[in-house]
Amino acid sequence: MAAQEQPINVAVVGTGRMGAHHVRTYRNLAGANLLAVVDLDQNRANELANQYGCAACKDVTELLERFPQVQAVTVAVPTVYHVPVASQLLKHGVACLVEKPLAQTSDEAAILTQLAYRHKVTLGVGHTERFNPAVRAVAALGLKPRFMDVQRVSPMTFRSLDIGVVMDMMIHDLDIVLHLVNSPLKRVEAVGMSVISEHEDICNARLVFESGCVANVTASRMALRTERRMRLFSDDAFVNLDYQARTGVVIHQSAHADKLAEIRQAVAAGGDLSNVDYTELVSQETLSMELPEGHDDPLTAQSSTFLDAVRAGTRHLVDGQAGQDVVDVAQQVVQAVREHQWI
Ligand SMILES: NC(=O)c1ccc[n+]([C@@H]2O[C@H](COP(=O)([O-])OP(=O)(O)OC[C@H]3O[C@@H](n4cnc5c(N)ncnc54)[C@H](O)[C@@H]3O)[C@@H](O)[C@H]2O)c1
Repeated sequence: MAAQEQPINVAVVGTGRMGAHHVRTYRNLAGANLLAVVDLDQNRANELANQYGCAACKDVTELLERFPQVQAVTVAVPTVYHVPVASQLLKHGVACLVEKPLAQTSDEAAILTQLAYRHKVTLGVGHTERFNPAVRAVAALGLKPRFMDVQRVSPMTFRSLDIGVVMDMMIHDLDIVLHLVNSPLKRVEAVGMSVISEHEDICNARLVFESGCVANVTASRMALRTERRMRLFSDDAFVNLDYQARTGVVIHQSAHADKLAEIRQAVAAGGDLSNVDYTELVSQETLSMELPEGHDDPLTAQSSTFLDAVRAGTRHLVDGQAGQDVVDVAQQVVQAVREHQWI
């Protein structure tokens, strides 16, 4: 934040698991002036207000009455309440960073994007993985993906069982895939199974884009280990990413053009290459995973970028439309799971 810039007056609505992270993040950001926390559960709101030295309100109406100077709010209530809570704020011209998914359906998400547009306020969506340094590093390569294979699996936490694994976990990867592929979706196939909850707990989706790119995306909340991996193939490069460990490598074809030409010639001539060590032919580059200075973790980077957008009156990196688009794709995946025929 530049010295002359005024901190933005902020509040957090919903002080559960995610809300508490947002409150702590704002408290540590020089560009934020934390006015209040809001929760229907007054004990919870008071507890956090005492811990972080701000006011506690029971609902958005009280927040707007007591703090008309509030400029930006993070909405971290359960997804089912995103629309009523964020609508009230947007109508008052208050910028919102709404936790993911933006809403339960793309029609509901559209209510929020339209309100933000009409009232000329910034609407951001909390797809925090976009601020993961591993994802940023891949995006910065500017590749045109041809094929992507993405996996997000973890043990059952017994949280968010009101929604399926697609809206709960896969939506993170769907957002990253849409962002990197940057082409309209052509069709979706998916299989899924319910193991514990009423909804799908395991899902594999195959997304085909108009660019020809195919993304194979798997999510499970029934695994015995936690893994978040992505492999991306483009014309020039292969990327292998572990975005939980925040490590990744890239192999550029162009870096081995001469060697590859030699090998192709030898293969075409019917040469015996069984003694060639393939792994020595390719040189891997480690992806740089640095976050910009002051952006110590993805949540801080997200909140800070959101406040910059509010200050400048511009769109957030993950704006309402991006949040709406990914909910739309997630719904198509869930629908494809329902329509899948088992024999
Ligand atoms: N970005 C991520 O990785 C990530 C991870 C988990 C959850 N989430 C999202 O964060 C949101 C919150 O999830 P959580 O796990 O923190 O939920 P939670 O149940 O732990 O907390 C929600 C809180 O909101 C309060 N609340 C409910 N309705 C309210 C209202 N109308 N006004 C004020 N307070 C209200 C509840 O009392 C509760 O304290 C959900 O949308 C969820 O999908 C995101």
